[in-house]
Amino acid sequence: MDSSLFQLEGKAALVVGGGQGMGESTARFLARAGCGVAVADVVKERADRVANAVADLGQPSAAIVGDALDDSEAKEIVERADRDLGGLDVLVTIVGQASFNSLLDMRPEHWDYDQRRNLRYFFVIAREAARLLIARDRPGAMVCISSVTGLQSAPNFASYGVAKAGLINLVRTMAVEWAPYNIRVNAVAPGTITTPRLPDTPERLERVRQGNIPAKRRGTTDEIGKAALFLVSDLASYVTGHTLVVDGGWMAAMLTGVPPIPRSGALDASAGER
Ligand SMILES: NC(=O)c1ccc[n+]([C@@H]2O[C@H](COP(=O)([O-])OP(=O)(O)OC[C@H]3O[C@@H](n4cnc5c(N)ncnc54)[C@H](O)[C@@H]3O)[C@@H](O)[C@H]2O)c1
Repeated sequence: MDSSLFQLEGKAALVVGGGQGMGESTARFLARAGCGVAVADVVKERADRVANAVADLGQPSAAIVGDALDDSEAKEIVERADRDLGGLDVLVTIVGQASFNSLLDMRPEHWDYDQRRNLRYFFVIAREAARLLIARDRPGAMVCISSVTGLQSAPNFASYGVAKAGLINLVRTMAVEWAPYNIRVNAVAPGTITTPRLPDTPERLERVRQGNIPAKRRGTTDEIGKAALFLVSDLASYVTGHTLVVDGGWMAAMLTGVPPIPRSGALDASAGER
């Protein structure tokens, strides 16, 4: 990898929820691009393990244990990352989860919790990071993880869908309000991704087989890490307020109503002749 393309050498990133899955992939890609990484996670062993992996890749690293959903801990996470790495340039937030509830059954507390663990904490942490960047007149880039669930109706996942839709709107607003300070803010909207918490099971694989994902597979955490790396890097220097869908074509197929196209035997047969 020609890491100079990313213009991240010598910079410092905070990955909140960086201790496994998409966060770990993002931390590793940032480190491979020459960026120092502070790995914040509520589980100490996870933060330590990924911070060690960043150090093994030759980059400055820090493991920070904290609960991103607690306002004062969230503030501390940002301050510690900034202090430990000598000034933050990049923020990526991964933390988020869905609860399964129909609107008729959902308790208002569930609603509130889903806003808190998907949307509100990003506002708190991103604003804290923006304040630090602005105080130093330092450019920055931020990415949060939304979901394709935020781009459509979300039956039985309404509180999660609304929170993820909120992120899409929030990054647009942050992008506009913070553009004068050279801070870019974007989101990644994954489709179905194989993660430690949502591994491949026979049921999930069967849903994919019968479903409408043109790529005919679940995505990988590395495919989300690569999207996050792109968005925080110089390769995306004119991209802000954007939500990058990474879903194997699922939204595209849904929007056009086109079922997955089977590979054409005729095309396969003639492929070798071209
Ligand atoms: N897996 C999918 O198919 C999918 C699809 C769309 C969007 N997403 C989104 O991707 C993101 C990652 O999902 P995942 O299943 O890989 O996450 P995960 O549950 O594996 O969590 C990622 C990390 O965050 C840490 N964490 C959890 N709560 C925390 C807190 N309060 N403070 C600090 N750290 C905390 C966990 O310990 C973990 O290491 C979420 O925002 C999710 O909504 C996932």
